[in-house]
Amino acid sequence: MKILQKLNGKDFVILNLSDPQMNDSEWNEDHPYRPILEYTIKELVTRHSPDLITVTGDMAYPRHFHSYEMLAQLLDSFSIPWAFVWGNHDHQDGIESVLEAAKLFKKHPLCQFEDGEPIFGNGNYILGINEGEQPVTALFMIDSHNSTDYTKENGEKSWAYDKLWPDQLAWIGEQAAALKEIGYKDGLMMLHIPLNAYRAAAKTVFTSGRCGHVDGYGDLNEPICSYPAEDGALTMLKESGLITHVLAGHDHCNNFIIPYEGIQMMFACKTGPGCYWKASINGGTIITIGENGIKNARHDFVDVTHLMEGKDIHEHQTDYERQIL
Ligand SMILES: [Fe+2]
Repeated sequence: MKILQKLNGKDFVILNLSDPQMNDSEWNEDHPYRPILEYTIKELVTRHSPDLITVTGDMAYPRHFHSYEMLAQLLDSFSIPWAFVWGNHDHQDGIESVLEAAKLFKKHPLCQFEDGEPIFGNGNYILGINEGEQPVTALFMIDSHNSTDYTKENGEKSWAYDKLWPDQLAWIGEQAAALKEIGYKDGLMMLHIPLNAYRAAAKTVFTSGRCGHVDGYGDLNEPICSYPAEDGALTMLKESGLITHVLAGHDHCNNFIIPYEGIQMMFACKTGPGCYWKASINGGTIITIGENGIKNARHDFVDVTHLMEGKDIHEHQTDYERQIL
């Protein structure tokens, strides 16, 4: 487990980016996506001076190694540590492409990524944030895989976005218990595909597509693309006694943060126009950690309209109907 140092008397700030998801050619100098992504990230770094940058998956597409490398170089340019988890698009061509991209990222000394146990996928690892010798917050960087076979209630064979696997959940729970034992105060689990419990969390809150919960905020602009049935993750989190926050990517136009059964269920703010997006909610997520653990998690939006003028940039237009939940 790698340890990152929080300075005494100063908050530790994480800037999370999500789903940049550019293909190789979208990094070309003359492609309109590139300046938008670069401007967004640079602006967020300037505003928040983070101690760590994280990316909650879908960094690119499988075998788009130029795209992975360009993102790595951009993150390196800020001279602070960075880390990531894989998304379903990173995985969609099988594990070989993921392992090749992992090799590429690990050549960058600021990258904190670790492969972790291969039986749980790739990239299950923990980062500890300590103040001197004192443990504070543990970051659980978790691989949420790609898709899986799924049988619908009517017996129809289908597919679904994957869930965290039972052995993987057990491992996270064991690690959390051990870290709590040695003094970690809380934990944040970062993964790409949201947990099934995000659906139940959303149902407690949304009445008209916009969050009205006194403790939550954010938007629900599209269906929650999690595994469709109970996945066991919420039970594990509650029993862990340590993990208080979950941050997922994947749904580019959902960005709610809702407390549910004692856990903050958070969608990361999508960064840049890659794949699909809503320009009005372009940005990142800022997690602030004090001496007693996580103090705050909020999105910060970056206006990029000046970079879109005259450019052919598609935006997500769906008016989401809440009965899809
Ligand atoms: Fe995704």
